[in-house]
Amino acid sequence: MKIGIASDHAGYELKEEILKIMKEEGYDMVDYGTKSPDRVNYPDFGRKLGEGVASKEVDCGIAICGTGIGISIAANKVHGVRAAVCSEPVSAKLSKEHNDANIIAFGARIVGIEMAKAIVEAWLNAKFQGGRHVDRVSLLDNM
Ligand code: RB5
Repeated sequence: MKIGIASDHAGYELKEEILKIMKEEGYDMVDYGTKSPDRVNYPDFGRKLGEGVASKEVDCGIAICGTGIGISIAANKVHGVRAAVCSEPVSAKLSKEHNDANIIAFGARIVGIEMAKAIVEAWLNAKFQGGRHVDRVSLLDNM
């Protein structure tokens, strides 16, 4: 599975930690930046990741900013993206099971590394449940 990851400056340090762990675990990672702690604008990086997911350059993505909110709003502007901001693993699991979230977002000023790892793991291990959720996801994709 190919996974994209992106952050702004506020999420940079956490992105680097998650990226290292995911690579060690054998995931094929694409880093859409930012590549340093210098101040940047989160819409640019949410968009880059969103476009990577929508074009199927990567299968799914991880987005990190200060809160997870700004970068997920940006990613969600890209057609075909379903980015979910989650601060704990239960929502992360449900975001895949019910919403087929193809980007998981969280905030480096909100969650620490252990919670971030638990969120990513819950989301990656969950499966879209289909059934009654199919039509709803399709309505989202056709908005
Ligand atoms: C950057 O200071 C901060 O506004 C950004 O990382 C994010 O939290 C926005 O939603």
